Amino acid sequence: MSLISADHKRWLQQLLGRRVCFDEPMRRRTTFGIGGPADAYAMVADVDELTLLVRGANQRSLPWRVVGKGSNLLVRDGGIRGIVINPAPYMRAVEVEEDGAVDEIIITAQAGLSLPALCRLALANGWAGMNFALGIPGSVGGAISMNAGSAEGCIADVLKTVTLLDRQAKRITVATDKITWAYRHAGWPLDSIIVEGTVKLQAADKQQLKREARQWVMARKRRQPAEPSAGCFFKNPSPHNPAGRLIDQAGLKGQRLGKAAVSRRHANFIVNLGGASAGDVLTLVRLIQTTVADRFGIALEPEVVILGEEGYAQESL
Ligand code: EPU
Repeated sequence: MSLISADHKRWLQQLLGRRVCFDEPMRRRTTFGIGGPADAYAMVADVDELTLLVRGANQRSLPWRVVGKGSNLLVRDGGIRGIVINPAPYMRAVEVEEDGAVDEIIITAQAGLSLPALCRLALANGWAGMNFALGIPGSVGGAISMNAGSAEGCIADVLKTVTLLDRQAKRITVATDKITWAYRHAGWPLDSIIVEGTVKLQAADKQQLKREARQWVMARKRRQPAEPSAGCFFKNPSPHNPAGRLIDQAGLKGQRLGKAAVSRRHANFIVNLGGASAGDVLTLVRLIQTTVADRFGIALEPEVVILGEEGYAQESL
């Protein structure tokens, strides 16, 4: 049942106007196209509004959770209680400082900027450092929160400072060498909200950078499925044992469960064939985990963030 009362609704509408929706199906807000309703889905315009929203929710004891563009997210069929907060698509300002003397470019980007937009900006100007992120569909905030990346690198490689709000919505700027970084993980204090990040890029040959980008994007398109997904589902247990190869060798390519399937193109992608429920995906996930564990003695751990309550998908009611 929704935790949002009529009073909460009035407060949220006064604060956010049309930028809040109620009982919003998360399948509309994730690249997977799966997920039950969020009690409230709030798109904040700026840091002041974000601060008021978080403080107001804390005062009312309403749970809240920040998500980005929903590209690495599986929401369970029962949906998410409380407020889901997204800095996208409004908080996407960018500031650029160029230091010609050392060929360095410092870009400060707000959390709601899409990672592809940041890559395009860098490419258009011949600034090297962001090509690792080409084709990753998330937001700057989402990428920073989980150290998004590819085989070519990760956001921690270029990030200098990050501004975040703590649980009480106090603003703090952190130098990234003070953060413990790991593969698809960053040790932010619990419940931090990423507000903006500063990356350091290098001036480079524009045409060469564009050539590299084109090759990289083509290779990625060949290797990755076109159907809706949340990207690679599992973390690679080690560089020698990529999850995609283990799942492939376990004979699971093309395995279906309801409307969810292991991609035939890349076995570490679970794809939504149209109308898949989170229940379908999670049952398939357990099947993959037990099959790979039985066959190779290796435990696969999701890379995708899984949120929300169990329940029934609306389609199956
Ligand atoms: N492989 C198979 N069968 C498959 C898929 C892969 O045998 O069905 C083998 C490949 O032949 C290759 C190895 O597994 O030898 C690794 O595959 P790939 O090069 O596609 O890279 P990956 O380790 O599966 C990682 C990232 C991707 C990123 C690619 C390319 C993880 C979990 N995945 O994939 O990131 O796009 O490198 O840079 O780190 C994501 O994070 O959502 C994501 C897709």
